[in-house]
Amino acid sequence: MTSDPSQPPVKAGTVIRNIGQLVTIAQQPIAEATGPLQVISNAALAVHDGMIVWIGSNDLVETMFQQDTGSRADGITIVDAQGVVVTPGFVDSHTHLVFAGDRAEEFHLRRAGVSYGELLAQGYGILTTVNATRSADAETLTKLAITRLNTMRQYGTTTVEVKTGYGLDKITEETCLRIINNLTAYEASSTREYSQIRVVPTFLGAHVVPPEYRERRSAYVDLIVDEMLPSFAGLARFCDVFCEREAFSLEECRRILTRAKELGYALKIHADQLSPSGGAKLAAELGATSADHLDFAGDADLAAMREAGVVATLLPGCSYTLRSPYPVARRFIDRGLNVALATDFNPGTSYCENMQMMLGLAMSSMGMSLEEALMATTINGARALALQDSIGSIEVGKRCELAFWSIRDYHQIGYHFGINLIQSVLVS
Ligand code: NIG
Ligand code: FE
Repeated sequence: MTSDPSQPPVKAGTVIRNIGQLVTIAQQPIAEATGPLQVISNAALAVHDGMIVWIGSNDLVETMFQQDTGSRADGITIVDAQGVVVTPGFVDSHTHLVFAGDRAEEFHLRRAGVSYGELLAQGYGILTTVNATRSADAETLTKLAITRLNTMRQYGTTTVEVKTGYGLDKITEETCLRIINNLTAYEASSTREYSQIRVVPTFLGAHVVPPEYRERRSAYVDLIVDEMLPSFAGLARFCDVFCEREAFSLEECRRILTRAKELGYALKIHADQLSPSGGAKLAAELGATSADHLDFAGDADLAAMREAGVVATLLPGCSYTLRSPYPVARRFIDRGLNVALATDFNPGTSYCENMQMMLGLAMSSMGMSLEEALMATTINGARALALQDSIGSIEVGKRCELAFWSIRDYHQIGYHFGINLIQSVLVS
């Protein structure tokens, strides 16, 4: 392995040359790089065993590897980026990817004035999707998830967190967790551009109380704490809860997350989404990795999150879908919080796989700059999954998860909108 920028590596599986702009988002300064995103023009990089081993000038590579694109006799594959922009792949740190059915009917009812909370309280909303998911077999759920994953990748996502939360009984939650854990394996056999996507599993048994427990909700919390959490510990990296009037109380969430933490799960919270629920403060108290939504989080909550190092994950797809005010990103950024953006892909509040859309909404409606939005969709998404040491930026020692754009200047991002600017992704 080499990190000397004046010396291309001898040992490399793949060399990517002729990168017009390499937007590294590096956390450590890189010699030739400029600006807050550490951009290198006319760049090249080398990868060995899935790891970035060298980043430097394309000129050095031109002299060392003159041969055309393709596999060489020495086993090195040369990829010609043809002068386009390359960034880290998007890290989508909050999705509900595994479910059956859709909720188009509710979407249109809401346009006629019915609120998301009203629908949920009347037994629709999430529970409609729970019914559809419980009725679907594992093969159907898997196929649906793979189709969505492929769409995500075509729009530039290389790592995705996936939550359960539409099973809400032990068998269906476990089925969904197993499907999530197998998604990476399914994708590994595809072509190179569409090779593996990293999937991070999250258990969200505390999404809402299922109908059969409506009159005895504490028994459902007992089921999560005493049976589901211990038996799913090896299947999920994170435990999440929906802390909200129509879902789980602050006390119920504290009990579930405390047990999850004891069992080794890292923590996430759907916090202060529809009302000030106390979720953000709880995230700080328990040392959660991220608190997500945060539409109603107060200043003191944000200060507590900052103190505890909790990532603030903002989800503009929900504001778009529910036609609610967008979060004001400056409130979070100016307080020193790391802000991540994610799709929250789900059939109720954000039926959208596209991280470029989230990036664009954050720039147009949340007051984020291009630089902030790019960081929020890459390195800060990685932080929201506690993966910032291995992905989220292009640096020597990190995994190779790259997005190739169809543009030559990264300032086109967010400006040229409503179309897919991603050419392909490379995860090796
Ligand atoms: O993040 N708020 C809770 N969960 C999802 C919505 C899920 C659904 O409506 O199906 C969210 O917005
Ligand atoms: Fe969500």
